[in-house]
Amino acid sequence: MGKTRLCFGLFVPDLRSNPVHERETMAMPVQGTQIEARLATRDDLAGLEAIETDRTEGLSASYLNLQEKGDFYVVVGLVDGEVMGRAILDARTRNELVPELKLLWVVPAARRQGLGVAITSYLESVAAQLGYDEIFLGVTPDNPAAIPLYISLDYTPTGEHRSAVNVSVVDAEVASATEAIYRKSLRLR
Ligand SMILES: CC(C)(COP(=O)(O)OP(=O)(O)OC[C@H]1O[C@@H](n2cnc3c(N)ncnc32)[C@H](O)[C@@H]1OP(=O)(O)O)[C@@H](O)C(=O)NCCC(=O)NCCS
Repeated sequence: MGKTRLCFGLFVPDLRSNPVHERETMAMPVQGTQIEARLATRDDLAGLEAIETDRTEGLSASYLNLQEKGDFYVVVGLVDGEVMGRAILDARTRNELVPELKLLWVVPAARRQGLGVAITSYLESVAAQLGYDEIFLGVTPDNPAAIPLYISLDYTPTGEHRSAVNVSVVDAEVASATEAIYRKSLRLR
């Protein structure tokens, strides 16, 4: 892969005044490999489905449907315009963790280029635009990639745990039965 450039964080859509399907993206042209993260649209469905695994089949269509109804936001990560990853922001007020980053996934071939950071950071900006001061996630304690990623982005463990709910995206065949809850303040950005 060539030189990687991140392109997010320059423009944050006003999520409260614009319906989901009208929101703009944070893409900008850069030289070298282009890493981009933005809200998914219906046009991304094929790309999203192409990166699903047996364990997550149908997930993208479900979450795009939920996004149209509100409370859920699908963030896509693209490398040179191609969908290579995604994550979901669950902003339901009745959810256990509000808001929650869920189902972060980058295809193996596109890892270690900054796409996980780009997706997560964009998703955080969406949460901040929605008015949240903090964001949460659950991660299995034996996830060797995600934990360093979250720590590098200033997430800290709350000390709480729950039964694992997102293991469908974890690479390992046998993932931990529990997830540690991590939190990040969105005030200091
Ligand atoms: C976790 C995951 C999303 C990371 O995606 P990614 O695009 O490779 O992440 P990035 O390139 O943005 O990595 C950023 C930093 O995270 C850390 N990191 C990422 N993968 C790592 C690994 N395998 N081992 C150690 N640290 C890792 C590093 O600090 C890295 O920075 P560096 O490459 O400069 O050293 C990806 O590995 C994945 O999809 N894993 C399977 C699904 C999963 O576990 N999702 C999380 C569920 S909670």
